[in-house]
Amino acid sequence: MKISVIGCGYLGAVHAAAMAELGHEVVGIDVDENKIRALSAGTAPFFEPGLPEILAAGIASGRLTFSSDMAAVQGAQIHFIAVGTPQRKGEHAADLTYVDGAVDSLIPYLSQGSLVAGKSTVPVGTAARLAAKVKEAGSGALLAWNPEFLREGFAVEDTISPDRLVYGIPDGDEGVAAKALLDEVYAVALSRETPLVVTDYATAELVKVSANAFLATKISFINAMAEIAEVTGADVTQLADAIGFDARIGRRFLNAGVGFGGGCLPKDIRAFAARAEELGKGESVAFLKEVDSINLRRRQRVIDLVVDSFDGNIFGKRVAVLGLAFKPDSDDVRDSPALNVAAALKGLGAEVVATDPEAIANAARLHPQITYVADTREALTGADAVVVVTEWKQFRELDPAEILPLVNRAFVVDGRNCLDAKAYRAAGWTYQGLGRP
Ligand code: UDX
Repeated sequence: MKISVIGCGYLGAVHAAAMAELGHEVVGIDVDENKIRALSAGTAPFFEPGLPEILAAGIASGRLTFSSDMAAVQGAQIHFIAVGTPQRKGEHAADLTYVDGAVDSLIPYLSQGSLVAGKSTVPVGTAARLAAKVKEAGSGALLAWNPEFLREGFAVEDTISPDRLVYGIPDGDEGVAAKALLDEVYAVALSRETPLVVTDYATAELVKVSANAFLATKISFINAMAEIAEVTGADVTQLADAIGFDARIGRRFLNAGVGFGGGCLPKDIRAFAARAEELGKGESVAFLKEVDSINLRRRQRVIDLVVDSFDGNIFGKRVAVLGLAFKPDSDDVRDSPALNVAAALKGLGAEVVATDPEAIANAARLHPQITYVADTREALTGADAVVVVTEWKQFRELDPAEILPLVNRAFVVDGRNCLDAKAYRAAGWTYQGLGRP
């Protein structure tokens, strides 16, 4: 099939390359010419395992091209909308400028029977509004909402082998035609019996935001238990294991720590709460405000643990911050708890030396005042405190006895509960986890 993907960020670039990998002819469109140049040369504009390989293969096959000229979408049977829906400045609602802009600039190129398929995360009601806009333009094109559930770090795998597909389509013949086109795009996944939910626009939009709200709630639930564990001497990691054995609960997404960040969960729960308010149902998801507050309190807890260890004054103390990305296997620092903690400690007067295997360049753009070093040992050298805030393998595998002589004071805050507490203590460290005695 001939496909276009509008927007080549994390979602769009991976979607475009993955669709070419599946045998489709794909053009990726973005207004950022630097991004288009990089992608056309086979360079991924961000760190994502497996992406460089499928980009190179797609370009070499001639099936994958990129352009900043919307006219390049001409002739495509499906146009995926994969532009960002960031949080509006100073507000919690989503900013739909890019989604509306993408649809508006696509309209002149839409042909009879072609399909606009939205992948971006949008407030419920957006798809119906955009469908009316497409219909009014009179091109005879259809619209579907086909949310994306990819996780950064696993984006290629999640796109090629999704754990479910959701189509939000119109009623009647239009819906039948839209489904047929989507079935053809996802023929490989469907042949592997990937679960498929075919539904209306509103349900498809809500599936995405409610999935993210549930995941965020699960993390904040366990972090709330960590707060209780901290005042009772209980161990939240054992608690998570024990409740996780109940198949109805499950152990995944029950890792207590410095909390969630990234380009999706924080903004999506805020936008959901804002949309619910607009719909007159703010109370239905009022708990998401608590979820957000619990999450942000955990960042403060990490900061407090470090500051309290110096009796309240960290001025001039050297703090090694291990981790900047919002999670491992990513260079993404959007709303990253790790970078947030590093910047706050710096703001309190500490001499912060931070490191991360992939995210230094992105972190330095946002917080140039922090000192960044590429080498973990260099970050640790002379440290008065060590804070682990992203659970990269490189940090989890550090040998506490071997790194002990590097530091000035053997005090570690394990903001991801990812280190072996016993091994650190045995090696002579003062170890402090989150929600653990
Ligand atoms: C998330 C959703 O998982 C994905 O389905 C959706 O499409 C986009 O948003 P992503 O932001 O890539 O994906 O990361 P995810 O793996 O969900 O982690 C989000 C944050 O939660 C990270 O900061 C992570 O460190 C944190 N987290 C995750 C925890 O603190 N504890 C956990 O147990 C799991």
